[in-house]
Amino acid sequence: MAGSLKVLLVGSGGREDALAWKLSQSPLVEHIYVVPGNGGTERPGSGVSNVSDTAADDYPRLLLLSQRLGVGLVVAGPDQAVVDGIEGYFRGSGIPCFAPSREAAEVEGSKAFAKDFMKRHGIPTAAYETFDSYLKAKQYLESLDYRVVIKVDGLAAGKGVVLPVDKKDAHRALEQIMVHGQSGSAGDSVVIEEYMDGNEISVLTFSDGKTTRTLPPGQDHKRAYDGDCGPNTGGMGVYAPVPFVSATNMEEIERLLLQPTFRGLDADGRRFVGMLFTGVMLTTSGPKVIEYNARFGDPETQALMLLLKDTDLAQVLLSCTNGSLSDVTIDVSSDFACNITVAAGGYPLDYSKGGAIVLHTPPKDVQIFHAGTTYIDGQLVVSGGRVFSVCATGSTLRKAVSNAYAGVKSIRFDGMFNRTDIAAKSLSLL
Ligand SMILES: Nc1ncnc2c1ncn2[C@@H]1O[C@H](COP(=O)(O)OP(=O)(O)O)[C@@H](O)[C@H]1O
Ligand SMILES: [Mg+2]
Repeated sequence: MAGSLKVLLVGSGGREDALAWKLSQSPLVEHIYVVPGNGGTERPGSGVSNVSDTAADDYPRLLLLSQRLGVGLVVAGPDQAVVDGIEGYFRGSGIPCFAPSREAAEVEGSKAFAKDFMKRHGIPTAAYETFDSYLKAKQYLESLDYRVVIKVDGLAAGKGVVLPVDKKDAHRALEQIMVHGQSGSAGDSVVIEEYMDGNEISVLTFSDGKTTRTLPPGQDHKRAYDGDCGPNTGGMGVYAPVPFVSATNMEEIERLLLQPTFRGLDADGRRFVGMLFTGVMLTTSGPKVIEYNARFGDPETQALMLLLKDTDLAQVLLSCTNGSLSDVTIDVSSDFACNITVAAGGYPLDYSKGGAIVLHTPPKDVQIFHAGTTYIDGQLVVSGGRVFSVCATGSTLRKAVSNAYAGVKSIRFDGMFNRTDIAAKSLSLL
């Protein structure tokens, strides 16, 4: 790192370790402070270190800290920070903050808002209704003759969406959320929407408010176990780009979903600056939006950072904050990248923390990003459910996947598990 830019990066997951890794390659950057960070983002001597005495959601203190450290760029990782409006705390301070405004981030913070926004701007998405009243929701459910998805309105750490298999199951889920308060206040309001059949992809787009740049599409694997079985998780592995998504598909996604989204937010006085993550379902009647996230996706980011070649990420993020994205080159490799989540036994339900980890040097070209790790008395231990993101590239999807799996062998801890079929469906179609 040759530059003089100090970066404050908020978050503690695999996404943040990957962002820190890519930012540290920027010739602009001198040091990256990660709040609170994890076992991978404490690399003394390499210009990346953790700040453990400041809470990631104490925004006034993050501002004071940034001023004290002479930070020249703040980057928000997690959903909570963007939805809380971290950007507003830095506005007027002279310190650019890569995050959308609180108003723009409402596309992630409220599913009801996002659905109403899409309806208002003619953006294709599943048919839906929003309810605050259990009785009305129940009646609506009764009146439908198609499969539904039930979503709590607010942030719910990936646990706010139920995919009932039949009507009885749907009624049970609705009661859990609206009567028994299973999701707390996030579930005071629910969206009941049509179930969409199709292939799901993740699309990440940088925006400076005028210019947008979309990265290659990725495909996440949400279920815990092979064959898409088991409970939903924060993501068990991802690969990019997705071979069955054609240039025509991407052109359609830009024209029908992304551009109307950015234009619509602008028209509503909520101009979006930052990273927009769009969950897209490719249905037989065209691409439709599943949801928006107002920040980098995890685990997509880990894979995508490996495809950014000589791109200067610090420059890209700064250019988004000052409206000059059109002047910046984003250099995307023609390779494939794969990210395998290595999780703690039991995840996403109960799992034990504190177990010792043995980490060997991975094969060349494999990047192991830390997620749920920390050091206790010099020993690396498990501190979260998703423990590592093992990433690799390859000139073909098959090579990227096998390189990443070879990297998994460098990790050992009691109870570790990972899916063994990341990208298998796509590979079987090739
Ligand atoms: N209408 C839908 N039809 C089919 N699957 C859906 C639908 N809505 C959501 N899903 C599935 O549920 C997952 C979680 O829903 P999402 O809206 O992304 O909420 P969150 O990420 O906040 O939990 C999606 O990744 C998708 O696999
Ligand atoms: Mg989602």
